[in-house]
Amino acid sequence: MLTPAQAPAIEDLYRIYKKRVPRVFHDYCETGSYTTSTFIENTKAFQNYHLRQRVAVNIDNRSTESTMLGEKVAMPVALAPIGSAGMNHADGEILACRAAQKFGVPYTLSTMSVCSIEEVAAHVERPFWFQLYVMRDRDFTRRMIARAKAAKCSALVLTLDLQVLGQRHLDLKNGMSSPPKMTLANIANMMTKPRWALGMLGTKNRTFGNIQGHVAGVVNMEELAEWTNHQFDQTLDWSSIDFIRKEWGGKLILKGINDVEDAKIAAKKGADAIIVSNHGGRQLDGAPATINMLGPIVDAVGKNADVWIDSGIRTGIDVMRALALGAKGTMVGRAYVYGLGAAGEAGVTRALEILRSELDITMALCGERLIKNIGRHNLLDAPAKSR
Ligand code: GLV
Repeated sequence: MLTPAQAPAIEDLYRIYKKRVPRVFHDYCETGSYTTSTFIENTKAFQNYHLRQRVAVNIDNRSTESTMLGEKVAMPVALAPIGSAGMNHADGEILACRAAQKFGVPYTLSTMSVCSIEEVAAHVERPFWFQLYVMRDRDFTRRMIARAKAAKCSALVLTLDLQVLGQRHLDLKNGMSSPPKMTLANIANMMTKPRWALGMLGTKNRTFGNIQGHVAGVVNMEELAEWTNHQFDQTLDWSSIDFIRKEWGGKLILKGINDVEDAKIAAKKGADAIIVSNHGGRQLDGAPATINMLGPIVDAVGKNADVWIDSGIRTGIDVMRALALGAKGTMVGRAYVYGLGAAGEAGVTRALEILRSELDITMALCGERLIKNIGRHNLLDAPAKSR
């Protein structure tokens, strides 16, 4: 267990995370593509949105509860899909999913997870969401959707902003893969992380669990790396959404939209929710911070689709800012991965507690009792409605 005194804020989880997790995975998490300008901008831009401080309002009986996809949630914050999450802590995806379910928020498993979808489903109590990358091998994509159905996943999160990979310089330098290249530097660094190493020795989940064993001819790590590098489907276009929708037949969330025109098309495609995202600053370096795109996107499509946001949220105050701009939900990635690497399931729970407490207190100081009442009136200099 991590107490509030040990980790009062997400930064404290990060401090512990940095000590416990090998550098190769720390760097994979804690960077952006190329010059990292978008990665840096994502978090900074939130601070430009000033909240209105209101006083002498009865704020007793507050609640951070809300709904996402029509389901009750303890707060409108879902755990984002994170590739290789299970390298930050043994069985990481299972632990993060358990923490989310006990807390009452949605968990999204990545296609590029370490624990397989079947493994996670077997170890948690309720349905989770599954994030899909469309691969050139459409048969693999079809089978992956069928596996998500068989695992009783309750929504499919289709990522649209990674047809090619934005280069992250550190990953090349570090030999990042799952498992990582066993360079001398990596081995030496891992030897300084005994807790992590012991955990990893105690699990069989150490590679991309959704892929290995499910693709003919991909048996060893080298073949797996080769396959993954060439599989992201560059032909993916809006018509592919119809193929996915037909195969899946359930709730569909489109992730990776950071432009008003794209948001309009996504809403027309009948997405149940769209996620304003720039992949945590890991893809198009130079793309605007998502919080700056949220207002215009909500104004353009908010009536037709639920608009959510990720990329840059590190506090409950950021969640409040996003809700004030019109987001109906948010996703956090790094904020919970720090908790996972710091202390496994208890660390993820602590991250969620931090975010909820910050959101609750921020609501109170803004004079709000209920999530549904939060809106642009909570912002000073609210951006004018765009059309
Ligand atoms: C994958 O989603 C990544 O950002 O590395």
